[in-house]
Amino acid sequence: KNDITLTMIKPGAVKKNHIGPILGIINENGFRIKAMKLTHLSVDLARKFYAIHEGKPFFDDLISFMSSGPIVAAILEKENAVTDFRALIGATDPDKAEEGTIRKLFAESLSHNAVHGSDSNDNAQIEASFFFNQTEIF
Ligand code: CMP
Repeated sequence: KNDITLTMIKPGAVKKNHIGPILGIINENGFRIKAMKLTHLSVDLARKFYAIHEGKPFFDDLISFMSSGPIVAAILEKENAVTDFRALIGATDPDKAEEGTIRKLFAESLSHNAVHGSDSNDNAQIEASFFFNQTEIF
């Protein structure tokens, strides 16, 4: 049975033209793209997406960064998508991410860490429907 996860290629990685290489790694590792768009989160939408982090010391920086430019949002499908994608992207802090992971390769820092990946199956569903309606998912 295949699961889904939601990823965002964050503004820093989009700005540096890393969309192609990151999608290449995603494909090479067996994830199928079910939905994808280039979009720009407003401050309000970024606050909504990251509502669980409201009140944390890094929240304001996170919101201003995530609304600073276009992102790629995508739904990825694979067996154990959430767990396997988190392994593929590496630790949140790129200094702690393993060699060869997407964050090790492309992240600039803890807050500018190139990509997002859902942290549970429940959040993957919530995050997927945040960006996509049923007619946009294949
Ligand atoms: P992400 O997986 O998108 O989920 C929340 C984001 O907050 C995370 O990636 C990091 O970019 C950012 N983040 C998490 N912890 C910290 C922290 N201690 N300081 C700054 N940013 C953080």
